[in-house]
Amino acid sequence: MPYFSLVLVTGDSRNGQRSRNGVAAAPASPEPAGPAAELLVVGLGPGPGHWLTPEASEALAGVDHVVGYAPYVDRVPQRPGLTRHASGNTVELERARFALDLASRGERVAVVSGGDAGVFGMATAVFEAAEEPGYEDVPVRVLPGVSAVQAVAARAGAPVGGDFAVMSLSDRLKPWSVVERRGRAVAGADLTLAVYNPASRSRTEQIVTAREVLLEHRESDTVVVVGRDVGREGESLTVTTLGELDPAAVDMRCLLIVGASGTRVSAAGRVWTPRWVRS
Ligand SMILES: C[S@@+](CC[C@H](N)C(=O)[O-])C[C@H]1O[C@@H](n2cnc3c(N)ncnc32)[C@H](O)[C@@H]1O
Repeated sequence: MPYFSLVLVTGDSRNGQRSRNGVAAAPASPEPAGPAAELLVVGLGPGPGHWLTPEASEALAGVDHVVGYAPYVDRVPQRPGLTRHASGNTVELERARFALDLASRGERVAVVSGGDAGVFGMATAVFEAAEEPGYEDVPVRVLPGVSAVQAVAARAGAPVGGDFAVMSLSDRLKPWSVVERRGRAVAGADLTLAVYNPASRSRTEQIVTAREVLLEHRESDTVVVVGRDVGREGESLTVTTLGELDPAAVDMRCLLIVGASGTRVSAAGRVWTPRWVRS
C-alpha cells in the first residue's frame, strides 16, 4: 500500500510532534467513545497569515488535531495540546477518513486546505469519505477561505468582475478529454477562465494543449494574467496575451486568468472585465 504507514501517536506527540509519513491510523482513544465532535474543514487562504479569516483563526485555536497536506499543516503554529498530522499529496480520502475517525471519537479536529477548502481542496474529500458507513453521526462544517483566484484577481485589478469559470488543468482526478471539452465550452461561451493547477513537474504538456484549445475560440490578443506565489515570498504577476503566453514559464505555483473578449488593460496596467456585455 504505497500511501499508508502506521504511525503510533503517543502521549508525547499530542504536545508537539506530528505524524508526517503518510496517513496514520487514528490513535486509539484511552477514553470510552463519546458523542462525535463536529469536524471542521478550514481554508487557510493562499499565502500570508493576514489572509486567514478571523473565523478560521479562532477555529484553529480551539481544536486538538490539525490534519492536512504537510505544507498546509506547517502553516498552523504548534502549541501545547495540539497534534498536527501531516501527510503527502494525493491521499485526500485517506486523510479525510483519518480525520473522521478522530472526530467520531469526540476529538476536536480541523482538516486544513490552502485557499478555500471547497475549491479544489479537502472539503469534497471529507464529504466523499463521510458517505462511507460509520460516519453518519459526524457533523461536518466548512469554513470559507480566500481562494487563489480572488488573490490573483485582486493583485491584477478586477479580471473576474463579470461572468467567469474556474477549472483545474490537473487530469489526476478526471480524464484529460473532459478538461479539453470543458475548456472549449468555456472559451466558446466567452467566459473569463481562472485556471488552477496549470502545470507540475510531471504535467508540462497540459498547459500547452490548453492554450491551443482556447485559441480555437479566442483571439490571440486575449488578456492573460499569470499570478505566481501571490501573497508569498517571490510573488510575481505577469500580464500577457494568449498568443504570447509562454507555457514554459507556468508551473504549479501559478494561477492563470484568461480574460473574456471584454477584458482590458488600463493605461496603468490594471486588468479588468466590465460587468456589462453589449448585446
Ligand atoms: C490544489 S489547488 C488548491 C486551491 C485552493 N483550495 C484555493 O482555493 O486557492 C492548488 C493550486 O492553486 C493555485 N494557487 C494556490 N495558491 C496560490 C498562490 N498563492 N499564487 C498563485 N496560485 C496559487 C495554483 O494553481 C495551485 O496549483
